[in-house]
Amino acid sequence: MVVWTDFERATIKDIFSKIDCESVGHQALARCLVVYPWTQRYFGNFGNLYNAAAILGNPKVAAHGLTVVRGLETAVKNMDNIKATFTDLSVLHSEKLRVDPDNFRLLADCLTIVIASSLGASFTAEVQGALQKFMAVVVSALGKQYH
Ligand code: HEM
Repeated sequence: MVVWTDFERATIKDIFSKIDCESVGHQALARCLVVYPWTQRYFGNFGNLYNAAAILGNPKVAAHGLTVVRGLETAVKNMDNIKATFTDLSVLHSEKLRVDPDNFRLLADCLTIVIASSLGASFTAEVQGALQKFMAVVVSALGKQYH
């Protein structure tokens, strides 16, 4: 089981209470699709992903970005049990969506970058440490049901 310090727990809850989930999710997913274009292959039903402007302007990208952040919020509410919380989501990404699990880290990094830029000076090294630990646990949990 992952051990969290009081600081890490408080910091993660604080980050997710402060961020604009819609904007962070949208920006992070769009960034992932632009920076790592092979991730677009999983979103073939999203329509126009032709270039960065099209990706950013695509309402399905915006909507799905929010879905991803809502998923993270579920993990925030279940910090002592993220692996079990994400069992079904891991099965979905593995067996139905067939997402290469290496991509989880890439989206997690994009989320971290967008959150960092939205928090500005309050995103200290300690805050980054807590967020990166949280993202690493999420990435690991999402990869758990892969065989
Ligand atoms: C931080 C990592 C991630 C989280 C928290 C996450 C979360 C989610 C959630 C909550 C859903 C909706 C599940 C449902 O409808 O029951 C979903 C669906 C999906 N995810 Fe992920 N995901 C992550 C990473 C990725 C990555 C890296 C990819 C591909 C590169 C991906 C591709 C998809 C696709 C294609 C769907 C279905 C979209 C649709 O057609 O509506 N996910 N994800």
